[in-house]
Amino acid sequence: MNIEKIREDFPILHKKVRGKPIIYFDNSCVTLKPQQVIDAIVSYYMEYTACHGRSLHAFATKTTEKYDEAHEKVAKLIHAEHGEIVFTKNATEAINIVANGISFKKGDKILTTTLEHNSNLIPWFKLQKEKGAIHEFVDVNTDGTFNMEAFENKIDSHTKLVSFVFTSNVTGTTIPAKEIAKIAHDYGALVLLDAAQTVPHRPVDVKQIDCDFLVFSGHKMCGPSGTGALYGKRHLLEEMNQFIVGGETVAKVTHDDWVPAEIPAKFEAGLQNYAGAIGFGAAADYLMHIGLDNIHEYEKTLAKHLFSGLQEIDGLNAYGPLDPEKQGPVVACSIKGISAHDIAIILDETANIFLRSGMHCAHYFHQNVIHETEGTLRPSLYFYNTEEEIDTFISTLSEIVKTFGK
Ligand code: ALA
Repeated sequence: MNIEKIREDFPILHKKVRGKPIIYFDNSCVTLKPQQVIDAIVSYYMEYTACHGRSLHAFATKTTEKYDEAHEKVAKLIHAEHGEIVFTKNATEAINIVANGISFKKGDKILTTTLEHNSNLIPWFKLQKEKGAIHEFVDVNTDGTFNMEAFENKIDSHTKLVSFVFTSNVTGTTIPAKEIAKIAHDYGALVLLDAAQTVPHRPVDVKQIDCDFLVFSGHKMCGPSGTGALYGKRHLLEEMNQFIVGGETVAKVTHDDWVPAEIPAKFEAGLQNYAGAIGFGAAADYLMHIGLDNIHEYEKTLAKHLFSGLQEIDGLNAYGPLDPEKQGPVVACSIKGISAHDIAIILDETANIFLRSGMHCAHYFHQNVIHETEGTLRPSLYFYNTEEEIDTFISTLSEIVKTFGK
């Protein structure tokens, strides 16, 4: 991979803030966008603004073609087929479509890990409250790695759904999804994977994993904000109830009833974020062009460099196995005596190093597993980052720790 050439694709990487270059390490939250994605979005607004599947004029025809094509590109990225990808606002919305679409009954068991993002917890808490379904946690190890024994002890014939984070936004650890899916299916349970932090970073093949649902967001993979996808096995999407209904979601309307439209329209109510969707398709193309294998391999070198630098900082506690084969280039850290928010502000104001501090929307893990109730500092890298940037980050962080740490 030619990183210098790749960096040329990202105009914002060359922007100066406070007269100095920036180091962007907040990729688990939102990634930057290449020119190819920006051009795809702009061209919708500049060249053919219209809606999908309704009007028959030239702009509308082009929008329909581009919007459908975007679904195909996103499907190809994860080896899904036509009619298995529904566009959503983000991974969160995709999980909510499943939570509200499956007919859960009282006593149906839903398993998540203790490492989940709130988006893969609250929908199940809500279901528990409203429908009497039972949510149970599968403990992960404190370094964020998956605990197969804990999973096998929890799953039983009442388990209707296993909904796990595929790659953590806190510890960068990835679960053995194929093995988990096999065990879950043996018990008759469905499998949903929150792949918001997986699809951007490594090859994902839904057929090979044999998951039932997989969700991810466009904004974490070089795509526009407000875009995401739900993959579902076709027969499951066909059986599922609609969550939001209205325009586009119907094939036929009678006196007081309707026939749902085909997938994906069944779940894509109202006019959509067409520019975003087309940009999302362009992002999928962009990643496939670079190659997810190449991205994954390069990120291992970044992770190795990051972990070894962090381990040299006295008084810094970094979560995760700190092994590039087991953890992507994302680490939650804490430093005795200094709050993560203070460090993030100092890094921003003194060195233009942008990263996130806090709970990273994984409150349960911070509060109950690692007991970091004030949150952690989290550098999260992507394939356009460099070892030189890591060196600057490590030396700046070391200085902060020396000055303010206990
Ligand atoms: N899931 C996003 C993050 O980890 C918001 O920052």
